[in-house]
Amino acid sequence: MPERYAKITGWGKYVPERVLTNADLEKMVETSDEWITTRTGIKERHLRAENEQCSDLSVKSAEKALASAGLKATDLDLIIVASTSPDYLVPGVATIVQDKLGAKCGSFQITAGCSGWVYALVVGTQFIQSGAFNNVLVVGTDVVSYGTDYEDRTTCVLFGDASASVVLQPSEQPAGVMTFELGSDGSGVEALYVPGGGSVMPFGAYKDKIFNERLMFLKMDGQTVFKFATRTIASSMKRVVDKAGLLPEDIQLFIPHQANLRIIEAAARMMRQPLEKFMVNIQKYGNTSAASVPLAMVEAIEEGRCKPGDKMVMCAFGAGLTWASAVVQFGVGEFTPAHTLFSLGRARFLAKRTVGRAQDLVQQFLLAMQFRRAESRKKK
Ligand code: UT7
Repeated sequence: MPERYAKITGWGKYVPERVLTNADLEKMVETSDEWITTRTGIKERHLRAENEQCSDLSVKSAEKALASAGLKATDLDLIIVASTSPDYLVPGVATIVQDKLGAKCGSFQITAGCSGWVYALVVGTQFIQSGAFNNVLVVGTDVVSYGTDYEDRTTCVLFGDASASVVLQPSEQPAGVMTFELGSDGSGVEALYVPGGGSVMPFGAYKDKIFNERLMFLKMDGQTVFKFATRTIASSMKRVVDKAGLLPEDIQLFIPHQANLRIIEAAARMMRQPLEKFMVNIQKYGNTSAASVPLAMVEAIEEGRCKPGDKMVMCAFGAGLTWASAVVQFGVGEFTPAHTLFSLGRARFLAKRTVGRAQDLVQQFLLAMQFRRAESRKKK
């Protein structure tokens, strides 16, 4: 076990305001709320505003993470941004995030599809454990909507935009990434990729082909990725749990990539763990790619599903093909501003839930009254 652990001391999320519901999609392509809900579990997703770039979403979630860790941007030693939808093809988005935040440190982008943020978390952890750095920001952001073909029903119903960030700092107590696995299988590259615009098919030489065949958009062989994901997710999670000397029963919360509810259900079955132990927020956001796992983690904290000292297993998979899993222990110990925010988030969640339940009761009561009145009118 290392002497220096990389504890998650701050966290934050940002989701754009614009919402695209299944009902909206029914007007755009030949699909239905019923198909999308039963095949994927998604009800709605959030999309960026036209002038909202990957760097803007990143800065918004990063600022919250820094505030909850009690740090200023100038305290950062390193910024890693996981993304497949950066502001420009060159350079990576991390330097733009560094500049917009006002940080004075090195930065780089990791592109590993939807697995990118778990890769970045593991990489950031190494810099802390080695003693090289003390304050590392790990951001996961994707604005997949810009590269999504809203005429292709096989992909456009799946993706949404979001960002989530964490701050890593050294700790002598066990915390952060305890064990991990990083995997890739490049033989599956064409199962999920953007064919046009790279060196294989540059825009200059292939302009007409790219536009006519809509090759500038994300293409996915859903069945192949589905089979790869269901094969990989549970086996990879089992391996990292085993490496940590634990059993699935010792894990308080599983945080899988939110690509398809059916994949998460299959993972729960294969791990022989109840679905209730799996964080699920796909219904609200769809697949947010590199932001998916950290967004689910931040929401789990806000909902009080992940408390100081808890052990979580994260697992992501996606383009590449890639996958990445980690056993992550939530830090224990001193009271930090992050924990205050956690309590506020929990209080907000409980308040919202109570108001929601009260509204449901009032609605049910009004409906019952209406029904009674209608009945008595009929009788008269
Ligand atoms: O984050 C990266 C990782 N990505 C993933 O993990 C995605 C993995 N793949 C999946 O989640 C699923 O494969 C999808 C949700 C993408 C598709 O679900 P499926 O059950 O595998 O459907 P399918 O591709 O086998 O298609 C079944 C039918 C087809 O019609 P026919 O050929 O049977 O007549 C499709 O054309 O459903 C049709 N279909 C749709 N129908 C209504 C495909 N997309 C839609 C749609 N609405 N949006």
